[in-house]
Amino acid sequence: MNKVKKAIIPAAGLGTRFLPATKAMPKEMLPIVDKPTIQYIVEEAICSGIEDIIIVTGRSKRSIEDHFDKNHELEADLECKQKNELLEIVRGVTNLVEIHCVRQKEPLGLGHAIWCARKFVAGEPFAVLLGDMIIESEVPCLKQMIDVYEERPGSIIAVEEVPWESVSSYGVIQGDMINKKLNRITNLVEKPKINPPSNLAMIGRYILDPKIMDILEHQQPGVGGEIQLTDAMKQLAADQNMYSFRYEGKLYDVGSKLGFLKANIDFALKRDELGSGLWEHLYELTGGAAQDAGGMREARRIG
Ligand code: G1P
Repeated sequence: MNKVKKAIIPAAGLGTRFLPATKAMPKEMLPIVDKPTIQYIVEEAICSGIEDIIIVTGRSKRSIEDHFDKNHELEADLECKQKNELLEIVRGVTNLVEIHCVRQKEPLGLGHAIWCARKFVAGEPFAVLLGDMIIESEVPCLKQMIDVYEERPGSIIAVEEVPWESVSSYGVIQGDMINKKLNRITNLVEKPKINPPSNLAMIGRYILDPKIMDILEHQQPGVGGEIQLTDAMKQLAADQNMYSFRYEGKLYDVGSKLGFLKANIDFALKRDELGSGLWEHLYELTGGAAQDAGGMREARRIG
């Protein structure tokens, strides 16, 4: 069995939900506290054992490439000013892993973006991580999936139960239960408007068989006139084992403004230098309710 060593991170979307912030800046560079969202995704991949990453970029995404590249000027400046801690952070980003970039020349959909990385995949199983979803967990979500893959080769799709009224915003799966965490997938539907087959939504983490690239090559546009990854996966599932997996962790949809703000608050609260100041602010803002909730959470954690 081939190990999963490669990952594709699509980052070619236009980011219209965050305009005007994303007029000249890719949405993937918006920070959660002080780190661009895409770096959280890259770090999840690395901590899961991924050795090679390709980012599929689009127009005006240059800053993503620059972010993971060496910045000699900045390093020299920090070195000169003996700002060693910052220097280490800046160098750390560059040394993360081998990162490649490929351009999606036209915004034809997620399936098309993945297909743009076909040469990189070169017949090996690969992971896909969507940048809109950050998952906080003890074991990285992708690592949990790779552990499942090593026992059950095939394609593995991370899912989460979502409220029925939100189902039409996601791709959903239908499957036969194997155990509490795993289903064998029998059907997939992208953003069902009527009769959704379940409320198990795909949340942007996939391990896929390279055969998907051959399917994507001929994939016709689906929902929204875009070439959908879900449609190609449906075809793959008819041919090979495909499993849905309920991961352990907390999901932040940082592609939505509310999810983005929640992630910023939660991640900042956990930082030594920011946590108490932010708690104080929330306390003032909520007339004490925030601290009471914080205290209760702390008590639960200790208990
Ligand atoms: C994409 C996928 C969808 C998935 C979602 C998760 O949709 O097509 O199946 O559920 O990501 O965020 P998008 O949100 O890019 O429209």
